[in-house]
Amino acid sequence: MKLSLSTLLRWLLSFGIALAFQDDLLKKCSQSGFCHRNRQYAKNIQESRNSHYSLDQGSLEFDTNNHTIQGFIIKSIKANQKDIKIPLPFTLDLFDGDKVRFRLDEHRSIKLGKAGINLQRYNETEHWAFDPDYIPIRQEVIAKSPTFWNKKDFTFTADRFTVTLSSQDFQINVKYDSADVLTVNSDNMLNFEHYRTLEENFENINEEEEPFNMFKDSFADSKSDSIPLGPESVALDFKFHGISNLYGIAEHADSLRLRDTSNIDPYRLYNVDVFQYKLNSTLPMYGSIPFVVGIKESLSIGLFWMNPSDTWIDIQYGHSDSSTHWMSESGIIDFIVIVQETPKLVTESYVNITGKPMLPLLSSVGYHQCRWNYNDEKDVLTVDSLMDKWQIPYDFLWLDLEYTDQKQYFTWKPDAFPNPTRMLSKLAFLGRNLVTLIDPHIKSNYHISEAIIAAKVYVRNALNKPFFGQCWPGESIWIDTFNPLASKLWSKFVQTFISTPSNLYIWNDMNEPSIFDGPETTAPKDLLHYNGFEERSVHNLYGLTVHQATYDSFVDMNPNKRPFVLTRSFFSGSQRTAATWTGDNVANWEYLQLSIPMVLSHNIVGMPATGADIAGFFGNPDDELLIRWYQAGIWYPFFRAHAHIDTRRREPFLLNERTRSVVTEFIRLRYQLLPTLYTAFHDSHSRGIPIMNPMIYEHPNVANFYDIDDQFYLGEQGILVKPVTSANTKSIPITFPSGVFYDLQNLEIAHFGTLETKTVSAPLEKLPAYIAGGHIITRKDQYRRSSRLMQNDPYTLVIAPTAYGTAKGRLYVDDGETFAYKQGKLLEVELEYNKNVIYGTVLHKDTSSFFNDISIEKIVIAHHPDGKVAETCTLELDDIRTNIEVIHEDHSHVIKNPGIQIGQDWKIIL
Ligand SMILES: *[C@@H]1O[C@H](CO)[C@@H](O)[C@H](O)[C@H]1NC(C)=O
Ligand SMILES: *[C@@H]1O[C@H](CO)[C@@H](O)[C@H](O)[C@H]1NC(C)=O
Ligand SMILES: *[C@@H]1O[C@H](CO)[C@@H](O)[C@H](O)[C@H]1NC(C)=O
Ligand SMILES: *[C@@H]1O[C@H](CO)[C@@H](O)[C@H](O)[C@H]1NC(C)=O
Repeated sequence: MKLSLSTLLRWLLSFGIALAFQDDLLKKCSQSGFCHRNRQYAKNIQESRNSHYSLDQGSLEFDTNNHTIQGFIIKSIKANQKDIKIPLPFTLDLFDGDKVRFRLDEHRSIKLGKAGINLQRYNETEHWAFDPDYIPIRQEVIAKSPTFWNKKDFTFTADRFTVTLSSQDFQINVKYDSADVLTVNSDNMLNFEHYRTLEENFENINEEEEPFNMFKDSFADSKSDSIPLGPESVALDFKFHGISNLYGIAEHADSLRLRDTSNIDPYRLYNVDVFQYKLNSTLPMYGSIPFVVGIKESLSIGLFWMNPSDTWIDIQYGHSDSSTHWMSESGIIDFIVIVQETPKLVTESYVNITGKPMLPLLSSVGYHQCRWNYNDEKDVLTVDSLMDKWQIPYDFLWLDLEYTDQKQYFTWKPDAFPNPTRMLSKLAFLGRNLVTLIDPHIKSNYHISEAIIAAKVYVRNALNKPFFGQCWPGESIWIDTFNPLASKLWSKFVQTFISTPSNLYIWNDMNEPSIFDGPETTAPKDLLHYNGFEERSVHNLYGLTVHQATYDSFVDMNPNKRPFVLTRSFFSGSQRTAATWTGDNVANWEYLQLSIPMVLSHNIVGMPATGADIAGFFGNPDDELLIRWYQAGIWYPFFRAHAHIDTRRREPFLLNERTRSVVTEFIRLRYQLLPTLYTAFHDSHSRGIPIMNPMIYEHPNVANFYDIDDQFYLGEQGILVKPVTSANTKSIPITFPSGVFYDLQNLEIAHFGTLETKTVSAPLEKLPAYIAGGHIITRKDQYRRSSRLMQNDPYTLVIAPTAYGTAKGRLYVDDGETFAYKQGKLLEVELEYNKNVIYGTVLHKDTSSFFNDISIEKIVIAHHPDGKVAETCTLELDDIRTNIEVIHEDHSHVIKNPGIQIGQDWKIIL
């Protein structure tokens, strides 16, 4: 068989020869037919100042029942003395008080005589991307008829929105409180490549179009793409008025604030396997979330481009506006614009549509110890016991590929793992979990692939036959989880493998899908999926369908238990059911540095459960890098150490004494803060609040923060962190917002005043982290071997007052394991400090839950600039007053064992 460059690389890699990913495996825009055509068209149309799209005024229908506006956009082609007009149906929708949705499709009546292929444009993205429970709130829309003076513009108003459709040079203008916020097709880049045959092509092209690779693909590995439907790309531009800071469109190994791409390739969203990916780059990665957020003072805009095909985005920052040009290879134009006052509300509004980030197992917020590979049961149990010997807490141990019998998923290597149930129950004894890798490529010729073939639920090639490709096991087929029958079958496999509900969970890797002999390391674009849609049209959704099927398998087996699923590939909506990570990174400082903006970026596009492999997947980190990576990594929402099979063992207990003790201290800090972290996860689950939260999200009015992506907050908890990400560092600069900031570890005041960039000391043992005045955080200070064993441990409250002596906090508690919280089995407590009085107020409580009775062992109040505290204080609880001693320490006052349970209302007067 033909061995492509990518195959060769992956095979070398599988023999342990680590090579950097070759960028030339991926297309550049100039090598991608539709990207090149659309960039060229955009340029030419601005020079020619022609316009080929107009609104068919007579077709406009305003539906007063559902307030939907429908009609046709007319595409005109003047070529070869012909004047062809293509009517493209659209709908425009205003809803939820903050959203405008626009869809543009094509009525195709094609007879192709090709087996299995669906000739319609793919329009089912929302089936996967939307929260199944989401129902848009219809609102009163008022249509204003065109006036005598202006017969071309059609205006619709709803709430604070005014949306205008203009007919010639088709445009949509969105106003909010009568100020322009966004214009669609502002630069006339709308391009809708309608269906035509190769023979008719010459008369279907306007003069601004360049017919590059419309019916063939000349790129190295994709020459065999049959492109059966010819050119069918869709492209459109959006101008963000008065906004010059754009964020989002994860996943890219780049800065948080998106770069201007005028002189480089556009950002690309195309799920591919890019081990040792290039940094500071707009190249595509494992997952795609086509959602961008524009931020300015007092207003933020979200734009969700709902298209799962290969997509490129050009960003251009103008004098005060910014433009984005979206180009997708196929499918329909379907986008939602969200206008809100703050970026946090934009993200909340976006997760209202695409689904709330899941509330994870509490244990999965703990530490994950992974390696390719833990070799056998003995290895697993040795790691387990050495973690305990050195008193390093952890919750999840992971098994990569090699636990399987000859890379056949849903099997165990018999001699290495003779009794998985025994091993699992040993881990379960201390509340611990195991994750095994299960990928969607299924080795040919064993019972699982045979069942998939028998059920005809495989991905098909362009000839409508089973597609075979190369992956870890050698020749493999891919399950087509777009097909509901495939998901059912997958459920059976999962449930048989897991057998009894237990502490065993699944990691779906390689689900871009990664195909060693495929073009750009992934699937040929003319493969066929369920309902005959081409891979081309659904590519970026595939990973989501796989991890969704895995999640559903768990819930189906045990409806009340929260599953844990890790996925490498993702799309909008993945946050409902899976965690992800930043893929195959490298143990060096630059990857550590870039992991921060990458994780921040995931957080603002509603996919917060993310982290980077600590301390780099490829290569061997030195002690300094290891320490710094753990110091940063404890703030990743998903906190996992992982390493390539060729690296030296580096479990924390193997490190030299000094390194081990620092690493252990920081893993323990993560565990101490679990109550605070879990509350941040709950804020993310209920309101989409980023868990690793960018400065600009908390301070959208402070221009200094637009570019800062190396420091961040933990949710809304008031913890500010600036990890050290460079070698030989003794001190680093950090920009403090105005207010009081206390050192997280000793509560010393680190900053008091207005916004200021200061240099703070950061020797190797020190992580610069602070609590912002005005917050109260909760901790559990006792070391335990796992989070489960901390369940009944008492709380410590840490109060960080403002200069005015005020602070607030919230604590969310539930059982951490089941869906009982949906029935209200949870505890929510508000904590408040106001002028020397501390209040604990129960906001919500289920009286039967065990966690109501957990006690508060300590209350720590940081010395604030203006604070004076007496020697004793008075506790008011159930109408009884008790005097308690106040201990004065260097930077704080401490009240020990006040005799309060977390589920009670109380008051302490200092
Ligand atoms: C709007 O209502 C009309 C009938 O009144 C219906 O035909 C159409 O499908 C509805 N559209 C949407 C988007 O609900
Ligand atoms: C998708 O397209 C098909 C075929 O044109 C149509 O029947 C269906 O109603 C469309 N679905 C949506 C959600 O627009
Ligand atoms: C990426 O950009 C950052 C910030 O400009 C720079 O410090 C770093 O060296 C760059 N890394 C690479 C690999 O180019
Ligand atoms: C999200 O949905 C909830 C529940 O419907 C609603 O209360 C909230 O206002 C919505 N948030 C935004 C930002 O639209």
